[in-house]
Amino acid sequence: MTRKIFISRELPDEALRLIHGDFTVEVHRGAAPLSREGLLAGVADASGLICQVTDAIDGDVLAAAPNLAVVANLAVGHNNIDVQAARRRGVVVTNTPDVLTETTADFAWALLMAAARRVVEADRYVRSGQWDRWRWELLWGLDVHGKTLGIIGFGRIGRAVARRALGFGMRVLYTDEARADAPAEQELRATYVRQETLLQESDFVTLHTPLLPGTRHLIDERTLRTMKPGAVLVNAARGPIVDEAALIDALAARRIAGAALDVFEQEPVASDNPLLAMDNVIVTPHSLCWTDECFHNMAVTGLASIVDALAGRTPEFVVDRSVLDHPRVRAPLGR
Ligand code: GLV
Repeated sequence: MTRKIFISRELPDEALRLIHGDFTVEVHRGAAPLSREGLLAGVADASGLICQVTDAIDGDVLAAAPNLAVVANLAVGHNNIDVQAARRRGVVVTNTPDVLTETTADFAWALLMAAARRVVEADRYVRSGQWDRWRWELLWGLDVHGKTLGIIGFGRIGRAVARRALGFGMRVLYTDEARADAPAEQELRATYVRQETLLQESDFVTLHTPLLPGTRHLIDERTLRTMKPGAVLVNAARGPIVDEAALIDALAARRIAGAALDVFEQEPVASDNPLLAMDNVIVTPHSLCWTDECFHNMAVTGLASIVDALAGRTPEFVVDRSVLDHPRVRAPLGR
């Protein structure tokens, strides 16, 4: 029987051309996001699924897809997928980590710089015709060079963010579950500290942890109070790592100077979210990986994972490798 690959969004043709063999490919096309019903119908007879962070692949979706052997998430984060339920069913879950690292680090820096130097406000100021003369203290922001950068989460992306800080002559502090090895610390001139010290000493705090039960609301009322009054928070990781209500209070009370946020507790953000009315906040639409190159590379990596898995080979980026011991996977995959 010809196996089906279901793809929840349009992908570049070069990526689709990677699919060789006896597969039918069904792609959800068009501007409207894939509905839950569309997803359930699409996976019902699929052996492979390519999805993105906005697709919730929970136990019900997996149960509705008896032939499903592999789910390729076009993202590094995979909190939209019930990975444990997938493991129980012998469904391999893959992600696209490496190709996102530098692009995400670039974007975290774009947010940091824009917030520090008030680039978005300055743009609005010029466009609205207010730039009629020089004014003292107009749009004064914060220097970045020479300041202290605190990186929470020192994996691939956190380290790529640290590497960029070298060019700004910053002092870099980081925290993570595990300390990096000495050569990495030396190369990046990064110092391992406790989270509390990082929050107390950093002028910019940037989040690069995955969303896990232990990182949900890692930044909350208490940790926000620990930050320096003039500090800026950058979040290009996952919204629920920050307790948004506590952040709104801290920003309203100017207990921290500002925030630059690409991710939110609810996405898309509701138009009445108080963050949108705050001039010390920059918001972007979870666009950290929105470059031609990154999308292309994510699509190619995701499709390669599907093709490998359905051919019985182990894909390069398997989220939870314990699934490889599942009898259905050793069968081999999808047969
Ligand atoms: C994007 O948010 C990703 O996790 O890749």
